[in-house]
Amino acid sequence: MKLLQTTLLAAALCSTSTLSMAEEAALKIGLMLPATGTYAQLGTAIENGFKLYVNQVGGKLGGRDVEYVKLDDESDPAKATDNINKLIKSDKVDVVIGTVHSGVAAAMAKVAKQTGTLLVVPNAGSAMITGPMCAPNIFRSSFSNQQPGFAMGKVAAEKGYKKVATITWKYGAGEESVGGFKEAFEADGGEVVKELYVPFPNVEFQALLTEIAALKPDAVYSFFAGAGAVKFVKDYKAAGLMDNIPLLGAGFLTDGTLKAQGGDGEGLLTTLHYADELDNETDKAFRQAYNAAFDMVPDVYAVQGFDAAQILDIGLKATGGDVSKTAEIAAAVESTEIDSPRGKFTLSKAHNPIQDIYLREAKGEENVMIGVAVEKLDDPAKGCRL
Ligand code: PHB
Repeated sequence: MKLLQTTLLAAALCSTSTLSMAEEAALKIGLMLPATGTYAQLGTAIENGFKLYVNQVGGKLGGRDVEYVKLDDESDPAKATDNINKLIKSDKVDVVIGTVHSGVAAAMAKVAKQTGTLLVVPNAGSAMITGPMCAPNIFRSSFSNQQPGFAMGKVAAEKGYKKVATITWKYGAGEESVGGFKEAFEADGGEVVKELYVPFPNVEFQALLTEIAALKPDAVYSFFAGAGAVKFVKDYKAAGLMDNIPLLGAGFLTDGTLKAQGGDGEGLLTTLHYADELDNETDKAFRQAYNAAFDMVPDVYAVQGFDAAQILDIGLKATGGDVSKTAEIAAAVESTEIDSPRGKFTLSKAHNPIQDIYLREAKGEENVMIGVAVEKLDDPAKGCRL
């Protein structure tokens, strides 16, 4: 009996001393991403990109081994708060990576802000995240919805379009993307004559395409992504609009979707913080490694996943893997230039990438960079108090 007690005591002492050395316990990462629905493929690309980075640096982040807990968020905002709480409270993750959908991510940011949990957003562009919900422990490796829209507003005005109609899903991302477009386009003398919306994630576009045909605007600006973007481009072409009313988009319209669009997206002009085959060494190495690991060509979502891991690594290296030292993590990330496949970028005080937005043209299965629409664009971070 005495021997058993001594053994138990020794075991208990041993495990506390092991756990108190943060760098020796595995870092538990909650991957809260869509695995089903219109954004499923985006979730996979993010996870692939994230894991590619981790594997390239020897399977550790900030000196700690990595362990994953996966959760399918279904791109459903109604389930978002419960889902992230489950990861934090039941699964006891140290860090959360997520997600794609702005409504889900905004709810996640709220919980992360309240609990102080480290959160890296690898896609969702919601203005809330780097606005009212901004916090030292919340980072975004992607973009704000306003950024690609704003850049396309400038391009559309430069092309001499005067009257443009917009079409998107009725939720934060679509509305903010159209908002960014409208802000730049109208400041440069254009006019958004009609804003058309479909509920998310519906893909019944026919009635609205008929309305566009009747309106005859100079061009159409759109925000769609994933499987919905495939269907929208195919329907736009089938409705006979492609050759008569130029279709413009935030780059998600054609990123990771050109193959499935089967040539219907050929020639489309879009704006985004990534393009295929940019002329930089980091991108070349990234594309080669991604292709070798997953037998797929990477897209913008893969890049954002890769950079989410990179941002986490930079922050955690500064604290020896301690996730609770939020101020030190933030200081390290804010003072580092991120060497991304998209090109180098820095994070703003609100933790959004300050980055070049490229103008791209769809050629075959690639979005070829044809210029920089806006250099070093930041997001407005409206309502962010730090
Ligand atoms: C968003 O909901 O913020 C969102 C979703 C998919 C994208 C881009 C933005 O491709």
